[in-house]
Amino acid sequence: MREQELLAFIGQRLTEARFQHSRRVAETARFLARTWGLDEDKCYQAGLLHDIARDLSPEELLKQAASCGIVWDEIEGHFPVLLHGPVGAEILRRELAVTDEEILEAIRLHTTGDYPLSPTAKVIFLADYIEPGRDFSGAQKAREAARRSLDAGVAVAVGEIIAYLTGQRYAVHPKAVNLYNHYVLNGFFGAG
Ligand SMILES: [Fe+2]
Ligand SMILES: [Fe+2]
Repeated sequence: MREQELLAFIGQRLTEARFQHSRRVAETARFLARTWGLDEDKCYQAGLLHDIARDLSPEELLKQAASCGIVWDEIEGHFPVLLHGPVGAEILRRELAVTDEEILEAIRLHTTGDYPLSPTAKVIFLADYIEPGRDFSGAQKAREAARRSLDAGVAVAVGEIIAYLTGQRYAVHPKAVNLYNHYVLNGFFGAG
């Protein structure tokens, strides 16, 4: 896919702020891919496309999920914004003929994470959290960890996200817990 086509595709569907966020995620994803020896073009494209369904209303997300055969769980029913990953992947499959399963997985899972995750999906999950527009302290911690390894960056990101959600007494999706537990059990937080 040519970059101009992708920019036109997302430009029609996103607000200006989300369009700029998507470009920063794409640039960050390309940088992470270069640093850690992954496919730069694939990660860049997935970054541009990751929020393709993010500006749909909750009602529209539920409607499109139903028409795509996506089955949502109780948490997604309460917070349909979580469906912008799975619905976005289906939009890309149907309207842009994206067939690369790693790109589709990266988009499907970028909001929650999960375990296991492909390298491309790790890059997009992390890039979404640390792109230069993110100025909270968790993003800075994840940026520093990402210099050690991609997994170190993802581990800190998911740990910070879950700490934030529980601190606010928000629900935590089980897929995010899967990813977090994987890193805890593999010693990414020092013990385990
Ligand atoms: Fe998103
Ligand atoms: Fe995003």
